[in-house]
Amino acid sequence: MSTTQQGPRSLLPGGVPGGTVVVPGDKSLSHRSLIFGALAPGDYTLHGMSDGADVHATASAIEALGVPVTRGSAETPWTVGEGDLEEPADVIDCGNSGTSMRLLTGLVAGHSFLSVLTGDVSLRRRPMGRIAGPLRAMGASVDGRDGGRLAPLVVRGGSLSGIEHRSPVPSAQVKSCLLLAGLQAQGDVVVREEHRSRDHTERMLPAFGVEVEILDDGVAMRGGQSLVAPANRTLAVPADISAAAFFAVLAGIRPGAELTLPAVGTNPTRDGLLEALDAAGVGLTRTNERLVAGEPVADLVVGGGDLVAFEVGGALVPRLIDEIPVLAVLAARCPGVSRFCDAADLRAKESDRITQVVRLLTALGVRVDERPDGFDVHGQPDGSFAVQGAIDAAHDHRIAMAAAVAATCADGPVTLTGADSVDSSFPGFFSTLERCLVR
Ligand code: S3P
Repeated sequence: MSTTQQGPRSLLPGGVPGGTVVVPGDKSLSHRSLIFGALAPGDYTLHGMSDGADVHATASAIEALGVPVTRGSAETPWTVGEGDLEEPADVIDCGNSGTSMRLLTGLVAGHSFLSVLTGDVSLRRRPMGRIAGPLRAMGASVDGRDGGRLAPLVVRGGSLSGIEHRSPVPSAQVKSCLLLAGLQAQGDVVVREEHRSRDHTERMLPAFGVEVEILDDGVAMRGGQSLVAPANRTLAVPADISAAAFFAVLAGIRPGAELTLPAVGTNPTRDGLLEALDAAGVGLTRTNERLVAGEPVADLVVGGGDLVAFEVGGALVPRLIDEIPVLAVLAARCPGVSRFCDAADLRAKESDRITQVVRLLTALGVRVDERPDGFDVHGQPDGSFAVQGAIDAAHDHRIAMAAAVAATCADGPVTLTGADSVDSSFPGFFSTLERCLVR
């Protein structure tokens, strides 16, 4: 993995985005490809993997559990081998990655050995009670700081029973954690949620011969099913719509822009970004729509259009939850007041993303009204952002990238601290950004 230089970074304003931008492989699917490849019999070749630190954390965990992984790059394939999961010799470090911690906790909860999972300062602040509670109800022993609500988590699993769980927040990490535990459980696992969260796990399980039933409000699976190797032991990961979002918004806010984003995953439980761009008046065409390894993919062409204020709330929120920081930057360029609501869980992400978005927009000189579950952005379509002081990424890759997109509309160079946090999901972000800007 290439790494971004530490220390403050100076971002230059201006530039017209043009050409083709290839963004990293989907992070959610990269984690799941490693985990399912490790569980299923045989060796798997994984194409298009994310080269971000989060996915490397899952790869290291899989190795610590006794399954060999050969790491490729963004361009070259990875492989994951087979082996019975064994007790890890040391603490598993999930770094900044909530997906690693929640999915791997579900995975090890099905095994009677001891596992300890920890992470960086940001991950150790994030809520883990939402998985500890239902895993305990299934029969696993899960402890941790604050009674199991915070990592490090200490898990001794095995002898699990089924569960019917209603998730208090739509969460693919909780759902996937319980489905992974359920693979070792006796009885049915049913996970219900108010709005459907991303369904990558439900799509991948049947590819490995596991029957799942999609319900109106969730998913059900008979516990204890074994994974069967698919005929083609190759998994292909599309480009990450959550990474593409930064360039789509960049093209939306810079006059004269036209960017092509090839082979972006457009799974309907993840494509809320496209609906929001449309509502904001950003010019957007999907071409070459196809299915890659059971996931919808399209080439996106973005740029032009007349911006207008837009709203994000309700069932749309889980479909674009990770894109809200950069959509807030789009809202800052749209005339009128854009409203983001029903998004309280943003406070439990890599940072409190409501607080951090408010800080970012305020530093740009944009008025923003904070609410417990979101914020209203008073767009400032004319002139440049009058930036006050340095902007801090708050250990959050998506805040760093949203700030860099906003900086193209600033009235002078912007100093960004903590820019290296982009390595979680998009190690080459700043060079990709510079390459696509014609100055
Ligand atoms: C993810 C699910 C979402 C998302 C995260 C990745 C996944 O989190 O925000 O970046 O891969 O399952 P929640 O499940 O907490 O909503």
